[in-house]
Amino acid sequence: MNNSIYDINFNIDKDKLIEESNHCQFVPINRVTMRLFQLSSKYTKGKKFTDYLNKKDNDWWKRQDSWHTSINADTKLLSKMPETTRILSIFKERLETNEIEANFFTQKVGTSAKMHADVGTACAINFILKGDETPIMFEEDGTFYYKNALINVSKKHMVPEQTSTDRILFKLRILNMPFEEVREKLICTKEPIYVN
Ligand SMILES: [Fe+2]
Repeated sequence: MNNSIYDINFNIDKDKLIEESNHCQFVPINRVTMRLFQLSSKYTKGKKFTDYLNKKDNDWWKRQDSWHTSINADTKLLSKMPETTRILSIFKERLETNEIEANFFTQKVGTSAKMHADVGTACAINFILKGDETPIMFEEDGTFYYKNALINVSKKHMVPEQTSTDRILFKLRILNMPFEEVREKLICTKEPIYVN
């Protein structure tokens, strides 16, 4: 068992989530937005901004406009997003924490996402809504294809060029519970749906 990715089996309504993502505002993930996120997160203390990126990719992080994240939905917006709310509340209950945020990520066909660690996020549960023919690659542990998985986003990773379609991801960002602890909670749950 590796400490980078753990496949999970959990039913979601992909079409509904894609529809709900249209309510959200999106911003490009670049040095400006990542730094803002680092400054506003209570979980990035003691870390330097450069810890999250590789220096050789500096230029890309300044100008990329092909990879976007949705801005956190407030309560009013979440009330228009029943499938997002349903999944979020199930995982908050199972993991016994409120420190989970739901976001959508989009990556345009023909583009990649350079090596990085996710700022202010201990680990994340990713549901690929579109574009699961492209893998995730970890600096240390190599390449993995998945559909729904718990991902250790505090380890450096990247997504290579998206080949056939735009990629859309629904992501539960778990702010302060490490990968190993979340995996343990998913495995130990009474419901068998989380065992791969
Ligand atoms: Fe990431």
